Amino acid sequence: MALKIIVLAAGSGRRMKSSKPKVMHEIAGTPMISHVLKAVSLLSSEKALLVYNESQKTMQNFLDEFNVEWVLQKEQLGTGHAVMQTLPFLNDEDIVLITFGDIPLIRSETLKSIVRSGEKDGFCILSVVLDEPQGYGRLVRDSDGFLREIIESSDLRPSSRNLRECNTGIFSLKASYLKKWLPKLSNDNAQGEFYLTDCIAMAVDEGVKIATESIVDVNEVLGVNTRVDLAKVERTYQQRVAADLMESGVTLLDPNRIDVRGRLMCGKDVIIDINNVFIGDVSIDNDAYIGANNVIVNTHIGKNVTIKENCVLDSVQIQSDCKIGPFSRLRPGTKLEKKAVVGNFVEIKESSVGPNSKISHLSYIGDAELGEEVNVGAGTITCNYDGARKHRTVLKDRAFIGSNSELVAPVEVGVNATVGAGSTITKNVNDNELVTTRSKRKLVPDWKRPKKQLGFKQNKKKQ
Ligand code: UD1
Ligand code: CA
Repeated sequence: MALKIIVLAAGSGRRMKSSKPKVMHEIAGTPMISHVLKAVSLLSSEKALLVYNESQKTMQNFLDEFNVEWVLQKEQLGTGHAVMQTLPFLNDEDIVLITFGDIPLIRSETLKSIVRSGEKDGFCILSVVLDEPQGYGRLVRDSDGFLREIIESSDLRPSSRNLRECNTGIFSLKASYLKKWLPKLSNDNAQGEFYLTDCIAMAVDEGVKIATESIVDVNEVLGVNTRVDLAKVERTYQQRVAADLMESGVTLLDPNRIDVRGRLMCGKDVIIDINNVFIGDVSIDNDAYIGANNVIVNTHIGKNVTIKENCVLDSVQIQSDCKIGPFSRLRPGTKLEKKAVVGNFVEIKESSVGPNSKISHLSYIGDAELGEEVNVGAGTITCNYDGARKHRTVLKDRAFIGSNSELVAPVEVGVNATVGAGSTITKNVNDNELVTTRSKRKLVPDWKRPKKQLGFKQNKKKQ
């Protein structure tokens, strides 16, 4: 008995009002279909059968990391018709798991449990009790509590409108059942579709008993049909991540105001203030503090680092005890060694900043290498680009760069050397030297500023 997993994703997603396939809309920065494929990949090493439609071909470029058999459904005639397209891939003795591409928060443990019941009982459905069941198929039970049929929302009779037990869309059953029942489905219903859910009534007619499992965490099976659903599922996902972070020893000042679009690993006693967005792989060591409103992408933040408010960090390596921000922009290739300080309105890219070095205000540091205890004054600019090529600036240990200086690369400032404020440095400065290149002071005593000739225009008008 082999497990075959079917993921339905071919639906047109009309309710999204989008030109992009519904399942490519993102939850936490990743297409929702990827969340589903990731969950099912933990159940089987075999290819998942992904049912798609003609206009979704481009999806293949984005999903090549997954082990998928692409099964085309030429026309979108309903969920039953969609599963029918997979029949050539199924053997009678297989057990099948069916899940939907628009239920992105489903956990692999839940799927495993449904598969186990499917193996045991031959047919198992995952149900959910919802306070607001609109849009979901409703489970109808007989007087003994056995499942009798599923009625789709749009086909509900007035007497069934108060049913709250809903179909999640997740089934596990024998492949032989599908082979038998799917060809018999009819589309005589409100939507004119071949419903997978009509298999239930067929099973009951044949005396097949259907097991149901009810899901405890309703959020796991929230379906995305509209953009409102998309936002709800996104927030639910983020709340799940926030809960895990707090569980692992992180303080979140408001768990409703954090966004993790990738993987965030945190040590103990990390404190994260509100409105932070973490993208890609971000790791934060013990005791670090992340102030409000930062965007942090593929970055490592060392122990006891402070990131103050409103910084953008992309592909940065930060060693312990550094202080960054507010308003710093650290671009790819920035490396900060222990206790480095980067202050407001400082942009750094492709540069390393040595231990205890400081760039406290209003500077651009590009393609530079700073030793230890270097001090870069406010308004310093590394002129790294000559219009064609990039050049490096080297500031050796304890170099002191006065404010408002330009370092025209390639250029080197030696150990303990000093650049006077307002200098333009075009040649290397040796160790221990002082260099200033300010223009000479010019002094004119009792200088009379030219005066405007007031009223001239007005007089002209009056004439
Ligand atoms: C479906 C179920 C409903 C359940 C709900 C749970 C049916 C008939 N209805 O309704 O009982 O409560 O999910 O979320 O099964 N799809 C195809 N091809 C098609 C039509 C749909 O691949 O021709 C795919 C869609 O891409 C989607 C899934 O099947 O991933 C469900 O389709 P959708 O139209 O969203 O069904 P619902 O109305 O949500
Ligand atoms: Ca749906």
